[in-house]
Amino acid sequence: MHLFSYHNPTTIFFGKGQIIAARRAIPERHKILVLYGGGSVKKNSVLDQVRAALNKHTFLEFGGIEPNPTYETLMSAVELARREELDYLFAVGGGSVIDGAKFVAAAAAFDGADAWDIVEKHAPITKALPLACVLTLPGTGTESNSNAVISHAAKGVKKAFAHPLLYPKFAVLDPTTTYTLPARQIGNGVVDAFVHVAEQYMTATEQAMVQDRYAEALMNTLIEIGPQTLQHPLDYESRANFMWAANQALNGLIGVGVLQDWSTHAIGHEVTALYGIDHGQSLAAVLTQNWRVRRKAKRAKLLQYADRIWRLPLVDEEKAIDQAIEKTITFFEKMGLKTSLAQLGVEAAVVEKIPQRFEVSGQTALGERDDVTPVVVKEILALSMAK
Ligand code: NZQ
Ligand code: ZN
Repeated sequence: MHLFSYHNPTTIFFGKGQIIAARRAIPERHKILVLYGGGSVKKNSVLDQVRAALNKHTFLEFGGIEPNPTYETLMSAVELARREELDYLFAVGGGSVIDGAKFVAAAAAFDGADAWDIVEKHAPITKALPLACVLTLPGTGTESNSNAVISHAAKGVKKAFAHPLLYPKFAVLDPTTTYTLPARQIGNGVVDAFVHVAEQYMTATEQAMVQDRYAEALMNTLIEIGPQTLQHPLDYESRANFMWAANQALNGLIGVGVLQDWSTHAIGHEVTALYGIDHGQSLAAVLTQNWRVRRKAKRAKLLQYADRIWRLPLVDEEKAIDQAIEKTITFFEKMGLKTSLAQLGVEAAVVEKIPQRFEVSGQTALGERDDVTPVVVKEILALSMAK
């Protein structure tokens, strides 16, 4: 195991009816900005529960944060927060709203000329507004990590940034808030969480027994619970297990002390920036092709995955790896996702465009061994366009 330090400051309030916990968790002296998305939280009464929880607080609301939240929209929230001297952010929604709130938290306290520098140039963050959240779409793990992914509509880019000051103070995970999710978003969330585990797991063996076994538990849970929660949207137990698994997949724990890949995510973000494809869907179209292209480097871990996740016999090792990859594809398909860029109808030029964008942005050494060059990215994309 490599050296690591681990600290996750986000308190989780898990379970039905827990939105009320916000009343005590946010000190009454704060002037709050409640942020939400396109309106799902109005329809399913989650926003009403938030308003009731905050009825002793002073708060304003900012709606309209879009999926793949944009700098442009978020800067309006920054202006509102500054103008009204709001000093606490409460995000209510999916990954986009929570990520958006993280940007607002950093941007509202930013001294530089243009807050986009926080994302593009990793301008130092020295202070941020405190934030908390109610999660309504499990998958990203953003509710208890310090990452955010923000798009700049005018520039046509989507980029990640992170800072310890951006961990939510607390996150409410009430599985009943997910009952209204469309099947497409459940599919996206399950696959996103699964790929988060994969990015931290599918690297090398003999690094960390606990992290491996824990990652395997999360993958097994998602494989079991994913189709169930799709079929029975009102089943509390399957939603609860999904919500907790997705949280654990990217709260930092399984990634400590081990190599991490994240090249599928880097490619996926470009696919979303160029073609507007949902985040989870972009990953489903890249992950298995990425494994195939880097099969040699990942061989030992692919075998462990075939053995422990899919219980495949290892007598014929090549066959076991092929079958494990096929089973992963079948799982994604069961969740209603397409598993190649060709199936998504993406233009053939993608194979050139994304490697070029990586050259320009300097992302030329991705993956756990810095060996995913633009040439390798091209191979992965070509494979995803091949069927
Ligand atoms: O906008 P509203 O009306 O709320 O509708 C949303 C949106 O249309 C809807 N939705 C959310 N909860 C609902 C609901 N509809 C009905 N009932 C509910 N309970 O779902 C749609 C998609 O929401 P969005 O927040 O965009 O989805 P998701 O949670 O998948 O977030 C995706 C974003 O998170 C980033 C992605 O790149 C993408 O921008 N990620 C953030 C990460 C992080 N911060 O750690 C890691 C991830 O890898 C990911 O990159
Ligand atoms: Zn993701």
